[in-house]
Amino acid sequence: MNWQPDTSSHIPLFKQIIQYIENGIVTGHMFPGERLPSERELASKWGINRSTVNLAYAELRATGLIKSVQGSGTKVSEDLWGITPRRSPNWKDYVNGGLFLPNQPVAQRVKELLRDESYINLASSELAEELIPVAWMDQLLKQISLKHAVQYGEPGGDRGLRETIADHMQAEHKVEVQPEQILITSGIQQAFNLIIQCLLSPGDAIALERPSFMYSRTIFTASGLRLYPIPVDDYGIRPEEIRKLHSHHKLRMIFVNPTYQHPTGTTLPADRRRKLLEIAEELRIPIIEDDPYSLLTLGGSPAAPPSLLAMHNGGDFVIYLGTLSKIAAPGLRIGWMVAPKSVVERLTAAKEQMDFSTSALSQQLAKAYLSSPEWKGRLQIITRQLTRRRDIMLDALTKYMPRGSKWIIPEGGYYLWVKLPFKVSDSRLVEECIRHRVLLYPGTVYGAISNQIRLVYSRASEEELGEGIRRLSLALQSSL
Ligand SMILES: Cc1ncc(COP(=O)(O)O)c(C=O)c1O
Repeated sequence: MNWQPDTSSHIPLFKQIIQYIENGIVTGHMFPGERLPSERELASKWGINRSTVNLAYAELRATGLIKSVQGSGTKVSEDLWGITPRRSPNWKDYVNGGLFLPNQPVAQRVKELLRDESYINLASSELAEELIPVAWMDQLLKQISLKHAVQYGEPGGDRGLRETIADHMQAEHKVEVQPEQILITSGIQQAFNLIIQCLLSPGDAIALERPSFMYSRTIFTASGLRLYPIPVDDYGIRPEEIRKLHSHHKLRMIFVNPTYQHPTGTTLPADRRRKLLEIAEELRIPIIEDDPYSLLTLGGSPAAPPSLLAMHNGGDFVIYLGTLSKIAAPGLRIGWMVAPKSVVERLTAAKEQMDFSTSALSQQLAKAYLSSPEWKGRLQIITRQLTRRRDIMLDALTKYMPRGSKWIIPEGGYYLWVKLPFKVSDSRLVEECIRHRVLLYPGTVYGAISNQIRLVYSRASEEELGEGIRRLSLALQSSL
């Protein structure tokens, strides 16, 4: 350190020292892990007071640029990711705080590649572009008056859309609900957040399926809830498990996705649904019925059993969550909740504080979509296409997967759940898949034990599906 602070400058000495060290680190002249002289050494070298050097080091430590460890002195920080000189906030400190947890690394690795079209995408749970009726939606959009759609919407949702959803619930699910029992949300995702933030408290115990879509979301654990798994077999959850969990943990809520479950594709049969409702009522635990897929019954399959909400028939133990994401277009971000009025009122007030309202334009488009006599025809086209894609994927699995692999044949929805006959490391498998240019998520992302994978047949083109499975089989061979 040949540099010397300028005692004649109007800039205080401690600031000059900070600037000097910051510049050294930013320009790479001082490297991560490099040992810095002690405060005493610098004070005597520069002929200044030791407390001045102490002040400078303290500020640099606070920004994360340097670290002092008792006994081993002061060093430039080894990990300078996100650390910026003192003039900017130390974002690393901020991003490590907050309520939400980061994505799991294996999931994040796949997520980063999803927009790269050179990969075959068996990972994204969304419809392929060609399955979304974009041209028709374009026409509907042209009929919408922007006059109202450019204003803030009503926090609980546009009255007309809530009436349309009430009709939809009657026509599709045979349940009679009033518009006042409906809250429009920005997708089911927001409904989860509202439920967690308004109806539950940190420390509360909740039960959810294992595997489940929601294990990939860390919203529950980040909110301090205690999560207890209800194992899923080929027919969904076994409701008796809830009794056991409740006796140990005093459950406050049960989250289930009973029809064409994400990620296993399983459907809870009517007798298990009845049992689930019976147990929930007996133990007085509300059920959140997460239902994005039930209208996507694939060709050749029996109709799905009635929803829990319908079976409950006027009871108030079930909160139902619906969405347009899987049957129309996820970009609309239109979901809805059917709940007792008191719950809708409480959550509406919270939603107003959260985002004021779901996009008024999206709500208008959703209303036009669902109230048009054409929408059922559009849904039929989507389910016909999904049926073809599921069958292509099933054929490819039979052809390419290693002997002993097992899968559940889904009667609806987007997902095929595959159990492998041998052990593989998830991160190895993901890397091998990436090397073979195919993307998918391993089952552990959904809370499953290892050696299981989730495959999505709704996103890739028909041509890509078979090739994707062929590549998966190669990736499996090289993961062993
Ligand atoms: C079971 C399940 N619930 C909820 C969601 C979220 O839906 P939305 O797009 O309405 O937020 C998804 C999305 O994949 C899902 O699979």
